[in-house]
Formats: sequence, structure tokens, C-alpha cells
Amino acid sequence: MLSRVIPSSGEKLPVIGLGTWQVFDVELTADKEKQLAEVLSVFARLGGRVIDSSPMYGRSEEVIGALMTKLGLRDQLFLATKVWTRGKAAGIDSIERSLKRFQAQEIDLMQVHNLVDVETQLATLRDWKDKGRVRYIGITHYNESAFPEVEKILKKQELDFLQINYSVTERAAEQRILPLAQDRRVAVIVNRPFGGGDLISRVRSKPLPEWAVEFDCRSWAQLLLKWIVVQPAVTCVIPATNKTEHLRDNLQAGWGGLPDGKGRERITQLIASI
Ligand SMILES: NC(=O)c1ccc[n+]([C@@H]2O[C@H](COP(=O)([O-])OP(=O)(O)OC[C@H]3O[C@@H](n4cnc5c(N)ncnc54)[C@H](OP(=O)(O)O)[C@@H]3O)[C@@H](O)[C@H]2O)c1
Repeated sequence: MLSRVIPSSGEKLPVIGLGTWQVFDVELTADKEKQLAEVLSVFARLGGRVIDSSPMYGRSEEVIGALMTKLGLRDQLFLATKVWTRGKAAGIDSIERSLKRFQAQEIDLMQVHNLVDVETQLATLRDWKDKGRVRYIGITHYNESAFPEVEKILKKQELDFLQINYSVTERAAEQRILPLAQDRRVAVIVNRPFGGGDLISRVRSKPLPEWAVEFDCRSWAQLLLKWIVVQPAVTCVIPATNKTEHLRDNLQAGWGGLPDGKGRERITQLIASI
């Protein structure tokens, strides 16, 4: 799969990852366990690494931890999660609970969720990074209204990662945030690539244009993901799914050609017309 470099370390990550909001917040009944174990195995087998969670996502961390351990996948996955609380002590408690739920010794990426108590939590994350229990640190948000604050933090703090919303219908990040992240050598994880699912629902019943094959796209999901991946500031995109068929579809966007400037504009115009 196509990969991109994390600027602060030189480590490479595959461009398509996996989001887990809602879709991994499930009770592990026998059926669900079978379904999600298959999703995780296929994800790792087809070259996926980045899996994103949060203590805010209910049982997601616990479900990932249980399945990852059972399947022996810890070394293949790049575990990203978040701290989403106020105060130093509560932040430390939260990170410790995340480690327990993941059944892991170390978390690859710890992010401050939605900038909640961002200065306090980043100070703790830096300390944990120095101690080697967190490999990378970052911040996240999902809404344009927070971009001015995101920009301030990007300028002021030394971060490894920024996670932000970006898609063909949520383009604000390309104005200032993505160029600034590139300038500051911060890796970018893109959330909400399908607008939380609305975007894909909107186009799903329409026929895929014939010219999509010019960029090796065989589905709407691939067209929408490649539109994002072609941005050089983007390190990884994390569409959420708990369905193997959708996962395979999304991972395929990490392979083959990408649209050029004209192709990207064509996709933009097409989506705007639907
Ligand atoms: N503040 C933050 O830190 C923040 C905020 C938002 C999101 N995030 C992260 O980013 C991830 C992604 O964002 P998101 O979950 O909001 O939305 P999203 O990835 O834009 O959309 C997810 C929806 O798309 C559907 N889908 C996925 N692949 C598909 C395919 N190939 N074909 C058809 N439908 C498909 C999924 O349904 P199925 O399950 O049916 O496939 C799901 O309903 C989250 O899960 C989370 O990890 C972080």
C-alpha cells in the first residue's frame, strides 16, 4: 500500500487506516466477535496499521485490545487513542486506563481529543513520550470552528501528529491548517473522510462515472478517499467501518493511481452536482 513518512521520525505509515467511533463500540457477542476479528485480521493482512480510538468511544478500546491480543496483532498495528478529560491527575488516569483496555505496554500515538485541556494534557503526553510509553503525541478536532485554536497550538507546540476533518465536502483544512502542518513537519491523520457517513449515503445510489477507472477507482469510497490521499500534507486517512467488505473497499484506495489536479477538480464538481 502507498505509505507516507511521519516527518518527526522518518517512520512510514500506510495511507489508509481504520476509525472506530461507534462501529467498535459493541458488546462482544459471539457473532460480533467473529465479525470484528475478521475486520482486524483482514486489515492487518492487507497492510493496514493505523487504528484510531478514544476513551470517548465507549467499548472501542477494550474491543480492540481483546481482539488484537487474541489474534496476536499488537506488532502489526499502530495504536492511536486519545485523552479526553480535564486536569493532570485525571489525564494520567485516563492514559493508564487506555493502556489496560488495550492490554498493551505502549501506545503508538496519544492525542488530546478535541483540544480538551490541551496545554495540561500535552505536558503529560510529552512526559510519557520521554519515558517511552507513548511513541508520538498529537491533537485532534473534527470541526472547522476550532481551526483558529488548532492553528495556534500547531504554531506553539512541538507535535508529531494532527488529526483533523477533511473531505470533498469539508475542505476548510486546506486553506491554512494543512499547509501549516506541512511547514511544521507534523503528520496529518484525516478523520470524517465520508463526512461521518453522510457523504457516502448521498452518492451511493448514483452510478460511478466511467472515468473513475482512470485513477483505479472501482467504488465511491475509493474515489472519495483518493481525493484526500493525493494531498501531500496527508499522512493517513481513517474511514470507520466494522464491515469486512467496506474495509477491503477502503484499503484498495491505498493502491494504484491517484487523480491529478484536473481529476480532483472533476471529482469535486461531480460531488457538488449530486
Ligand atoms: N475529534 C476527533 O478526534 C474525531 C472526530 C471524528 C472522527 N474521528 C475519528 O475518525 C474516524 C472516521 O470518522 P467518522 O467515523 O466520523 O466517519 P467516516 O469515516 O467519514 O464515515 C463512517 C461511515 O461510513 C461508512 N462506510 C465506511 N466505509 C464505507 C464503504 N466502503 N462503503 C460504504 N460506507 C462506508 C460506515 O458505515 P459501515 O460501518 O456500514 O461501513 C460509517 O457509517 C472515527 O471513527 C474516529 O476514529 C475523530
